[in-house]
Amino acid sequence: MSEWTSDEAKVGCKAKKDAWSCGENLYMRLLCNDGSHDQMKPLIQLKSIFSKQLPKMPPAYIVRLVFDRNHQSVALFKGPVGKGKVIGGICFRPCKEQDFAEIAFCAVTASEQVKGFGTLIMNHLKACIQKQKIGWFLTYADNYAIGYFAKQGFTKDLTVAKKRWEGYIKDYDGGTMMQCEIHPQIDYTNTKEMIKAQREHIFDKMRSHLKSEVVFDGVVGGPKLTDPYDIPGVHASGWTKEIVEELASKRQAMISLQEQLHSILKDLLNTKFVWPYTKPVDVERYPEYKKIIKDPIDLRMIKQRILAGNFYTSKEIFRKDIQRMCDNCRTFNPTPGNAYYKTAGQVLDFVMPRINAI
Ligand code: ACO
Repeated sequence: MSEWTSDEAKVGCKAKKDAWSCGENLYMRLLCNDGSHDQMKPLIQLKSIFSKQLPKMPPAYIVRLVFDRNHQSVALFKGPVGKGKVIGGICFRPCKEQDFAEIAFCAVTASEQVKGFGTLIMNHLKACIQKQKIGWFLTYADNYAIGYFAKQGFTKDLTVAKKRWEGYIKDYDGGTMMQCEIHPQIDYTNTKEMIKAQREHIFDKMRSHLKSEVVFDGVVGGPKLTDPYDIPGVHASGWTKEIVEELASKRQAMISLQEQLHSILKDLLNTKFVWPYTKPVDVERYPEYKKIIKDPIDLRMIKQRILAGNFYTSKEIFRKDIQRMCDNCRTFNPTPGNAYYKTAGQVLDFVMPRINAI
């Protein structure tokens, strides 16, 4: 018990005794193994959920972490306060010195999934981590759960410096490392209300600028009308000939750029040295590729981007993609005499002058 009291001071919330009500017949608790029945009973229930929902994790490993005293768990209960049953939770390890908390396991019991409980638990965990004055979450998300984590504000683009977490967290196969920033001022347990208030504020601001309530008379002059700007209200809405012409010329410039990029791509695809780049690298055949190359790109993707019509807003963006494609090739095949390595130089020599000429 005394151990928990010191933790409690660190945590900054009276987790052991308190249960946060979070809806009808629902409450949340922060748990940590202090050896007491009060903590052990729900931890055992949570451990069973993790074991069922994460079948790839060895059960003994789940037990070790859930009952480890450096780990804590936020658990969601269904039922009257004090008598409910755990229906989901997240087990995590705060790493205060490194300013992050590692999420070890996250699961909701099968019959209660996709009802918003995963989000509810995550929001409470965020509030709890915020109180501990920790700035980041890190986790190895199971590849099937990446969508869920993305919806909770996690991203695969890691900006937390590697030296802060390398050696501190466990590497999992079949998982993708994701991070989430915990903003010190967001009330995570009240996000719905906060977003509603922000939305209303934005709509109020928009309304104050809109003139949609002004109704103009209909078109006078009938078929004799030659200038669209004579239509009542067109000028008042902010459209001018100059704006329309500028937009049209920008659009024409974009079309012309895409045509020129397409032509370069077509010529490149007809060369003898383009063969390593025509489609994505086969990661089944080269499983280490994903580990070495963090940002893969190939000509199929580049073609899709050209066809989208609005991705390459400048030739420099296209240049960077081609450069990255060749850099990736040289990183994966670093021996200068290697056939793949050579093609990278040939592609750059072929493409770069053509881009310069646009
Ligand atoms: N993939 C993609 N999207 C998902 C997934 C998923 N596996 N699960 C939920 N979502 C989406 C929901 O559709 C919902 O989207 P919406 O807001 O647009 O409606 C959003 O995420 C939030 O869903 P919730 O209902 O709040 O989530 P839920 O209660 O189902 O809990 C959880 C999500 C924990 C992933 C649950 O589905 C689960 O237990 N899955 C099995 C175990 C698992 O995969 N856990 C994660 C392993 S990784 C790790 O533990 C570090």
